[in-house]
Amino acid sequence: LDGRLRDSHNRTITDLRLSVTDRCNYRCVYCRTGEEGAQYSELPIADYARILRVFVSLGIEKIRLTGGEPLLRQGLLDLIRETAQLRPAFSDAPLDIALTTNGHLLAPLARPLREAGLSRITVSMDAVDPETFTRITRVPGSFERVRDGIRAAQDAGLGPVKVNCVLMRGFNDSQIEAFAEFSRNEGVIVRFIEFMPLEEGRTWAPETVVPMEEIVTRLNAVRPLVELPPNHISETARRFTFEDGRGEIGIIAPVSRPFCGHCSRVRLTSDGKVRTCLFSQSDHDLIGLMHRGASDDDMRSWIRRVIERKEARHHIGEPGFLKPSRSMVHIGG
Ligand code: GTP
Ligand code: 5AD
Ligand code: SF4
Repeated sequence: LDGRLRDSHNRTITDLRLSVTDRCNYRCVYCRTGEEGAQYSELPIADYARILRVFVSLGIEKIRLTGGEPLLRQGLLDLIRETAQLRPAFSDAPLDIALTTNGHLLAPLARPLREAGLSRITVSMDAVDPETFTRITRVPGSFERVRDGIRAAQDAGLGPVKVNCVLMRGFNDSQIEAFAEFSRNEGVIVRFIEFMPLEEGRTWAPETVVPMEEIVTRLNAVRPLVELPPNHISETARRFTFEDGRGEIGIIAPVSRPFCGHCSRVRLTSDGKVRTCLFSQSDHDLIGLMHRGASDDDMRSWIRRVIERKEARHHIGEPGFLKPSRSMVHIGG
């Protein structure tokens, strides 16, 4: 017992993903139904700051701020500033603070985010062709804004920016080769993600998933890929570059090649519930405990007990699979 957070499958939890809002200014087809979904409450920034402090004291080394769209959240810069003061409990490296955004509001915020102490940024971008992009996000004129947001983040020192592309057959699988060029030209890491059943509606079917094998085959046909070693054991992406070393491609294959065995993640929803797996059927009411007057020590022992029971893995594609109790926009990427 070295004080770190461990689950019953002997995985060490070092990665906390915090959703600061479940509001979003996009209505991406693979995520939203297009109608206003149920909105969960948001906590005051001070509550998130306290929760982050307690988690970091338990060995969290990487914090990813997500949403919804996190740049919609008032007080986000204050939260980053406060979080940047924290030091990991069991490591000499500085705390890694990352943000996942759709990029729509990013351009003017890139420098303030960096100055507040953000380490790096991931932008979700599902097409490099403006028309295809608008068909997915359902917000006109969005492609140029997001591309400018990515460039501003690179200029502000938040790079290399990671660009996440969820592939859905029939919507954006035509974009694979163009994304490889985009990575080479813009100096960003493009990551293709297999579509998971986490959407509000009923869009997902096994046929809608574009599997890793197919992505690799198509990229190789244009320009041979060279595989890169993982940066760390719980890395979600298989990494590739090309023979001349220009461009980086990641492929995240939760469906065809699940990575649960090395999962290091826990999540906190915007309304203060702990989720131990993306596919959890229920969540754990941390904010309820706080509101009943729990001390930091009470919170620590409660968190240890909750993490202990973390799910072994997801069951996508198996008989009897149930979607999680919340859709992605209400959990946080
Ligand atoms: P870094 O390595 O810190 O850059 O982040 P990451 O690899 O976790 O990537 P990111 O946070 O951008 O997540 C990329 C995508 O991977 C998400 O949008 C999800 O689709 C998927 N993903 C992330 N975490 C999990 C997880 O715990 N389980 C599953 N099944 N998928 C995940
Ligand atoms: N499957 C895989 N990834 C998803 N994301 C959102 N919904 C899904 C899904 N059903 C990704 C987004 C973004 C992050 C927040 O999660 O593209 O990068
Ligand atoms: Fe971890 Fe659950 Fe994601 Fe698997 S599905 S990697 S166990 S959060």
